[in-house]
Amino acid sequence: MIARVDGTGIGYDDIGRGHAVVFLHAFPLDRTMWAPQTSALAGRYRCLAIDARGFGESPATPPFDMDRYADDVVAVLDAAGVERASVVGLSMGGYIAFALWRRHPQRVRGLVLADTRATADAPDTRARREELIDLARTAGPNAVAERQLVGVLGKTTRERRPDIVATVRAMMTRAGVDGSVGALQAMLARPDSTPILPTISVPTLVIVGDEDPITPPKEARAMSNGIRESRVEILSGAGHLSNLERPAAFNAVLGEFLHALDGAEARPV
Ligand code: MLT
Repeated sequence: MIARVDGTGIGYDDIGRGHAVVFLHAFPLDRTMWAPQTSALAGRYRCLAIDARGFGESPATPPFDMDRYADDVVAVLDAAGVERASVVGLSMGGYIAFALWRRHPQRVRGLVLADTRATADAPDTRARREELIDLARTAGPNAVAERQLVGVLGKTTRERRPDIVATVRAMMTRAGVDGSVGALQAMLARPDSTPILPTISVPTLVIVGDEDPITPPKEARAMSNGIRESRVEILSGAGHLSNLERPAAFNAVLGEFLHALDGAEARPV
């Protein structure tokens, strides 16, 4: 489906019925990375998987920044007639979830922050992003995909799951240059979200793969410690794309979290 916003379109899937759950993808992927979750949860929840502008079915229409991506999520919620949703963001999707909390906290019912970080970019990451911007412009999406693949998939997946490697590579090579460059610039410019962690007042689940070198478990624990009602689940044998690398384990902790959220809201006060 396409939500019209601000002269452009935002692609999304709207599958299932029940409390709404929004899924925000990583860089440079698209909403199809959430297929193992939406197919498992659609019997109990209304799953809204959204393409950030410049990825999947969302054209690369500027501006590109975390605030705009977050406002696009709200445009999808409005188009779908959803007032509040649980928000699941992985990596860049987590950065968008922080912007959503900063700008539209009343639309967020619960948060799942997967393989992401609250802190802004360190100097070495900034340098790596500038290099990737050059690479995207000069060599295109295939070169970006090859550079990213090693970092985003854990050792276990790279050694034992060629099918997952192929799926992720194919998804990455579909990303266009403008959307990728826009997202890299948006990530470079994003603010440090550490100061807003204590303001997060909704139940939060932090998920991380134990082989994630980009946002390692140590970082995930520190982030979770800053949030009042939060806990961490570490998935063994998963790298940065934990939802694709250990889908059953990811779905189990996510399903349990969403179920507890339903129970907490149903309890009389
Ligand atoms: C992602 O998976 O979205 C990226 O690795 C995020 C980042 O580079 O910070």
